[in-house]
Amino acid sequence: MPTKTAAKKQTKKPKTKDFVPNIVAFACNWCSYAGADNAGVNRLQHNPNFRIIRTMCSGRVTPGFVIKALKLGADGVLVSGCHFGDCHYIFGNYRAVEQFEKTKALVKTLGLDEKRVRLEWVSAAEGPRWAELMNEFVEQITQLGPSPLGNNERH
Ligand code: FES
Repeated sequence: MPTKTAAKKQTKKPKTKDFVPNIVAFACNWCSYAGADNAGVNRLQHNPNFRIIRTMCSGRVTPGFVIKALKLGADGVLVSGCHFGDCHYIFGNYRAVEQFEKTKALVKTLGLDEKRVRLEWVSAAEGPRWAELMNEFVEQITQLGPSPLGNNERH
């Protein structure tokens, strides 16, 4: 039987103003990771509340990667790769679109808002776009609040 404190903890909702989202960004090595690096090299200001995981291609990011990130406490997950026609592996980003459709279906099945996951294209030269995208996504997840999945003890 749960103690009074445990029950209280489970029902306690964090105030939006105190909520700092935990975001995971999968970025492909050849474009988006370089785009994020470009933002850093150019000292562009953007929200720092995300962690980047570099993958060789956006097509490598299967639904399992995203669901695991959500289960481990991510409030939102971004998958990012090269623009169409620029993928280092020719059609990897087309595969990413297919994978992402499956990911969104799973996210909905889990009862989560599908806005918690996002697929975007950022090239190596698009540092400003990366900065803008991350600001926008962090804001979007902040509005949604903490994910009901995963460990929200940190809040
Ligand atoms: S290498 Fe960037 S999406 Fe495939």
